[in-house]
Amino acid sequence: MTYLNPEHSATLTTINDLLTMKQEGIKISCLTAYDASFSALIDEVGVDVMLVGDSLGMVVQGHDTTLPVTIDEMAYHSRCVTQARKRAFVIADLPFMTYTTPAIAAENAARLMQEGGVQMVKLEGPHFEIVSFLVNLGVPVCAHLGLLPQSINQLGSYKVQGKNINEAAKIKNDALKLQEAGASLLILECVPADLAREITAQLAIPVIGIGAGVDCDGQVLVLYDMLDIGIGKRPRFSKNFMVDATSIAGAIEAYHEAVKAQHFPSVEHAF
Ligand code: KIV
Repeated sequence: MTYLNPEHSATLTTINDLLTMKQEGIKISCLTAYDASFSALIDEVGVDVMLVGDSLGMVVQGHDTTLPVTIDEMAYHSRCVTQARKRAFVIADLPFMTYTTPAIAAENAARLMQEGGVQMVKLEGPHFEIVSFLVNLGVPVCAHLGLLPQSINQLGSYKVQGKNINEAAKIKNDALKLQEAGASLLILECVPADLAREITAQLAIPVIGIGAGVDCDGQVLVLYDMLDIGIGKRPRFSKNFMVDATSIAGAIEAYHEAVKAQHFPSVEHAF
């Protein structure tokens, strides 16, 4: 078989590259992206991973939660992002209620990969059977534990998870089981830094943190929060990188470098 575009396959970041980065202790930088212009800019700066997050429901569409986001919208925004990038690895969220059974999850993951062009899909929570079903079909999966924004109506507020021993043990156990089910990446959101450090050390797959301390294998932030253009209050774990920058590209570069050098997050951004 001939690979049609060797230049493409030579430059695009792969899941193997991310795994090597974990093994070599090189931090992984990740930002959310929702459109072509930001995608091109983030890609140009050299950020390793872009996440087409369902946070677009809040920062782009102006909803209070991520729940109204549809699979059509995720496929559309994913396509906008992947069309404009040359190098970064791209993940997209399966939105609320689009992975209620293995078959439904597979149908929607196929849309994000085929229409949206993403390399991996992300789903929230300990859904071992669904992860394993997708992986067996050839769909790379990013798991997401800790604070699960799609469960906000059960949680009541966006608060730190895993603060007591039982909660922490459950998150740790779920992380191991998701890895066993075949997940190749884990996002840990809003958990104590000590817990995130333990999970990162215990897993072979890369762990990307948001509000999870500096010892994860990488960091992700919502783009609009770190540029301080989001609606409402910026979360405590995020940082305004525009403050010391003279351009948007400069702020993104400062974030990327701070992640690589482990200058971000500092203790004030951790729990
Ligand atoms: O939707 C999103 O942007 C996310 C990040 C907060 C991790 O899931």
